[in-house]
Amino acid sequence: MPQSLTARPSGPLHGRARAPGDKSMSHRSLILGAMAEGVTEIEGLLEGHDILATARAAAAFGAKVERLGEGRWRIEGRGGFQTPADVIDCGNAGTGVRLLMGAAAGYPIQATFDGDASLRKRPMKRVTAPLGLMGARFDWGGSEDRLPVRVSGGALQGIDYAQTVASAQVKSAILLAGLNARGETFVREPEKSRDHTERMLTAFGAEVKVEPDGDGWIIRLAGGQRLTGTAVAVPGDPSSAAFPLAAALIVPGSDVTVEGVMLNPLRTGLFDTWREMGADLTISNRRTSGGEEVGDVTARHSALTGVIVPEGRAASMIDEYPILAATAAFAEGRTVMRGVGEMRVKESDRIRLMVDGLRACGAAVDEEPDGFTVAGGPVAGGAVVDTAHDHRIAMSHLVLGLAAEAPVSVRDPEMIATSFPGFVRMMRELGGEIAS
Ligand code: S3P
Repeated sequence: MPQSLTARPSGPLHGRARAPGDKSMSHRSLILGAMAEGVTEIEGLLEGHDILATARAAAAFGAKVERLGEGRWRIEGRGGFQTPADVIDCGNAGTGVRLLMGAAAGYPIQATFDGDASLRKRPMKRVTAPLGLMGARFDWGGSEDRLPVRVSGGALQGIDYAQTVASAQVKSAILLAGLNARGETFVREPEKSRDHTERMLTAFGAEVKVEPDGDGWIIRLAGGQRLTGTAVAVPGDPSSAAFPLAAALIVPGSDVTVEGVMLNPLRTGLFDTWREMGADLTISNRRTSGGEEVGDVTARHSALTGVIVPEGRAASMIDEYPILAATAAFAEGRTVMRGVGEMRVKESDRIRLMVDGLRACGAAVDEEPDGFTVAGGPVAGGAVVDTAHDHRIAMSHLVLGLAAEAPVSVRDPEMIATSFPGFVRMMRELGGEIAS
């Protein structure tokens, strides 16, 4: 991968593309496959770096992991994890490490988890605290709350845990640990977060109950349930589809269709927001695949208007605010994004990076502790933007550069391959000028 990539003002983008496999479901299919007894065959697996790290972890915990062909993987689980020979390196993947820690905590084993420089900066107590209450032990390698950490698992007790923020990673870690705990485990969420773990646990034969709980939700799972391997079809990732669709919305004359996009309503907050901004977004060929609703999403160049994004929508589009902000720079008026303090603890401080990047490209942006506001207008571009090795920051600015007045370059774009290895090729095939 080159040291930088540059996106140039481009003519209209046209054509059809296929969304890469969903990252959240890809992690889960490998982890549940490794925890289960018997064979799990996965189709459409995202072969990004984050997922390959989880596949290596599944093998290190004792599952037989084979790649059968493009996106086709076979996992033979042993019905439990064994103590791995080496440190589990989760690379850049917050979802990978947090879910794997939850899964590992349920077994009488020890495992040390580590990651790259970015993952080592991210908070881990949000999962180790509830897992600790269940009886797992954590020994921090350096500073508390940060990787590396050694987990000693087994003999867990179910808990009743109320989350303060709706985090699917935390919920999932607790549920995966709860599978092998004594008694029942309850996770209370203030708002629903993505429910792929609940759906996939059911597909692997476990019973999970989801019920309203005051203004939020409660997820209940009885301990001691066994998982059985199954077939998993991973649909396209709406978080990745967002990039070519965004380019079509902001480059005049464009018309792009991304096929096979997962339409789980807990993931499509960005599409709702774009529609409120006046985006010409249509969904065709709706069908069900892998237990999820899927469709082909078409975006055409649109005159966008700024909106106030409802804070309650944050969980359903938490990874999409960077690309929303890039499109908001081309809208008329202000787009207000609040209640998204969680963005600061993703692969980078995404509020900071978007504020700096958009300002460097000539957009007017106000930063707040838990959000930011983008005022739309002509976007000058002509900047080299820091990405802090964050894939979504890099892709968001490259998309912006396709519609700016002058080229936009991003530093350190190699991390794009964590979630979207075919991004540059796909954008070029659609007519976007991105090159090193
Ligand atoms: C994910 C949950 C989200 C999201 C991440 C993937 C998941 O994180 O940002 O990219 O697969 O569960 P939080 O649950 O911490 O919000």
